[in-house]
Amino acid sequence: MNVGITVNGEQHEHDVEPRTLLVHYLREQLGLTGTNVGCDTTSCGACTVHLDGESVKSCTVLAAQADGCEVTTIEGLAAGPQLHPMQLAFREHHGLQCGFCTPGMVMAAVSLLREHPAPTEDEVRHGLEGNLCRCTGYHNIVKAILAASGQGTPA
Ligand code: FES
Ligand code: FES
Repeated sequence: MNVGITVNGEQHEHDVEPRTLLVHYLREQLGLTGTNVGCDTTSCGACTVHLDGESVKSCTVLAAQADGCEVTTIEGLAAGPQLHPMQLAFREHHGLQCGFCTPGMVMAAVSLLREHPAPTEDEVRHGLEGNLCRCTGYHNIVKAILAASGQGTPA
């Protein structure tokens, strides 16, 4: 079936199998491999992207469901060479180690701040419940998100 999806501001038309998952479409058809697959079972959040501005796990969305929609992936977050403030905050506060969860974590964090521009630490932790990280213990991720929200960071 034919799907038309705007990804990172660019319109794409492709013939896809009806069962194609959005994450596989992004990675395999468009070569946008920043969106990772960690579990394929809606558990880890490594595949998080924005679909019409909402954070979604792209392993649970069919490419066909995104027909006519706008998708933003981690590759589309920066403005050219200028990193997004959330990416800068993750870098500054060491919110990553191996980096596998990071694209999904950053996309979820951007969406979290859109909904809650000044979250508490608890709200950040709660907002990240769908995104797993095996490396960092989350502390620096939470710090980065609070810093990106313009609030002081916990010790
Ligand atoms: S790969 Fe989508 S939630 Fe883990
Ligand atoms: S930085 Fe390794 S899984 Fe999060």
